[in-house]
Amino acid sequence: MPGIHFPEGFVWGIASSAYQVEGAWNEDGKGVSIWDTFAHTPGKIVNDENGDAAIDHYHRYKEDAALMAELDLRHYRFSTAWTRILPAGTGPVNPKGIAFYDRLIDALLKHKIEPYLCLFHWDLPQALQDKGGWPNRETAYAFADYARIVAKHFGDRVNVIFTHNEPWVAAFAGHFLGMHAPGTKELGAALRAVHHLLLSHGLATEAIRAEAKRPVKVGITLNLNPVYPATESKKDAEAADRVDATMNRIVLDPLLKGTTPIEGYKIAKPFTGNLIQPGDLKKICVLDLLGINYYSRAVMKHSAKIPVIGVEQVHPEGNEYSGMWEIFPEGLYALLTRIQRDYLQPSPPSPLPNKGEGRNAPELMITENGIPVPDGFDFDGRIRDERRIRYLRNHLAQLHRAIQDGVPVKGYFHWSFMDNFEWALGYGQRFGLVYVDFETQKRTVKDSGRWFAEVIRGNGFEI
Ligand code: FCB
Repeated sequence: MPGIHFPEGFVWGIASSAYQVEGAWNEDGKGVSIWDTFAHTPGKIVNDENGDAAIDHYHRYKEDAALMAELDLRHYRFSTAWTRILPAGTGPVNPKGIAFYDRLIDALLKHKIEPYLCLFHWDLPQALQDKGGWPNRETAYAFADYARIVAKHFGDRVNVIFTHNEPWVAAFAGHFLGMHAPGTKELGAALRAVHHLLLSHGLATEAIRAEAKRPVKVGITLNLNPVYPATESKKDAEAADRVDATMNRIVLDPLLKGTTPIEGYKIAKPFTGNLIQPGDLKKICVLDLLGINYYSRAVMKHSAKIPVIGVEQVHPEGNEYSGMWEIFPEGLYALLTRIQRDYLQPSPPSPLPNKGEGRNAPELMITENGIPVPDGFDFDGRIRDERRIRYLRNHLAQLHRAIQDGVPVKGYFHWSFMDNFEWALGYGQRFGLVYVDFETQKRTVKDSGRWFAEVIRGNGFEI
């Protein structure tokens, strides 16, 4: 039968993050994070919602792990909350925070679910924000200490540790666009934040490797959007290139080539003086696993109206959109083949060669991909989320096409397992394979959850 069949050993999983699912925001000694502060500030989140209770995964992790196993989901990417482990970001470790992740990891392993642990999904300790947050270089060193503590406690059972989720979003949505915590709107702060986030990746990688008693794969997850010019004009092509440099190359170049486009930005000059110190880029350029989060593309046109960067986003007519983005499966193929072409194929030696450790040719995985759908129950209590199934089919087909064409992607994690708190958009955007009633916390598997389970069982699907 014709079908889409993935390579043997392909890793199938689901993803989540601490602030979006755990709740228990001030239980068992947890410290306050910048997302607690931000979501408690009126006007920042749709309907002034927050993650105080989220979907109560903190208390329901056992039944959640059992449900994953029921759907044959055997790889779970989650994040640890820095403030549970180190309530003030540095200083004393909170034993109850360690105990929670011990319980969670053990529950996963009991069900043969492999934990993919991510250290930072945006919830910086407020105490470190008060000292300057990511724009302050010291935060990178504090992060490396936190990474060492996590590796020490969980490195015996966890084989994969991601340092960061989407450092670009943490830096730019948080410090330039102001729509995420901490909510500032300064280009200089965003540029400093992105460099220190990347530096902290390098420092944390060193710390994890020194601490773990066995080999642990260290990765990072990036949000990457292929950028298309709105027309064939030279100005639009240049606009698209500027956006590619400031959204994609700004994180890809340091991690995979040990170079940075930041120093080439004219607009960055006033802010970046001695930001990048000798040796920083070499430290950053270490990576076993590159996680890619793909949701959509960006179509850009030149615009003199928009200050600083001179570009405007265009939403092409006639295409399909979700509550958040254009749906563009071909973009996943374009993105993967571009990464392969520009970053992973043997190329002339870079000015900062990665001293023969081969670390800048990492394994690739899709660590997030998904769609918000306003799901609801049908008369018989089922949730027939055909739209999500179609989204999955089309994106998996493009992923498969990229693999066929030689891009060695080793896994796919769907965002998300359960509906959860979608940052500034609150609870209105449902991304789950499992529906959550936010009042009662009842979980109901959607049709897409069952469909995805079949894909995993068959390592593909018929067309
Ligand atoms: C990504 C985030 C994730 C989730 C999805 C929809 O940017 O990493 O937490 O919010 O978007």
